[in-house]
Amino acid sequence: MIRPPILAPSVLSADFARIAQELDAARDGGARYLHLDVMDGRFVPNITWGPKIIGDLRKLSELVFDAHLMIVEPERYVDDFRAVGCDRITFHLEATPHAQRLLAHIRDGGAKAGLALCPQTPVELLQDVIEDCDTVLVMSVNPGFSGQRFIPRALDKVREARALVDRRNPACLIEVDGGVGAENARDLVEAGADALVMGSAVFGASDPAAELRRIRALLV
Ligand code: DX5
Ligand code: ZN
Repeated sequence: MIRPPILAPSVLSADFARIAQELDAARDGGARYLHLDVMDGRFVPNITWGPKIIGDLRKLSELVFDAHLMIVEPERYVDDFRAVGCDRITFHLEATPHAQRLLAHIRDGGAKAGLALCPQTPVELLQDVIEDCDTVLVMSVNPGFSGQRFIPRALDKVREARALVDRRNPACLIEVDGGVGAENARDLVEAGADALVMGSAVFGASDPAAELRRIRALLV
């Protein structure tokens, strides 16, 4: 028996020429979150979208909007993402020296606040801010692109995060992002993950809703 995780399809892998159908497929497949990767070409070597596009997507979907900010100086932009309807806002610990202040600010704005860790960053660095987090996002690839290979060390990092969260802030969700799919989803949930982000595994499938249902069926 495992606790069925929240599935969070990442629209980075979706076809934006038919985004309304892609979002409907995510809903029909049983996703609860829609994962939105914001990239600035500075924190990561790729560029995606900003608040305008997310605000437009907001009109097409009632899923929980789970923004993953891969940008430098995230404190400059979190209010804009909140204003267009992001429900959960996660930024990178490596992107600001003032994570605690920003986590508190995101909560004050009415969103859930998350901290993401690149593969190089130890879970230990969350020690002094874990009570301020609603999400810990363990990156299992180097952020920037979908379709990369899962870095196995992430499994142990999920276990470490689980132990920390259970001890200090049990309401905090542990989310894993990068190279996640049917082949490793169960191991990640058993290690303690509450939410699984999946880009290419879902939107690279010929029938994303069916693939989500198939993955959900593996996780009961
Ligand atoms: C990568 C992003 C991910 C990406 C995952 O930097 O944060 O959310 O969309 O894509 P897959 O699941 O294909 O690794
Ligand atoms: Zn992401």
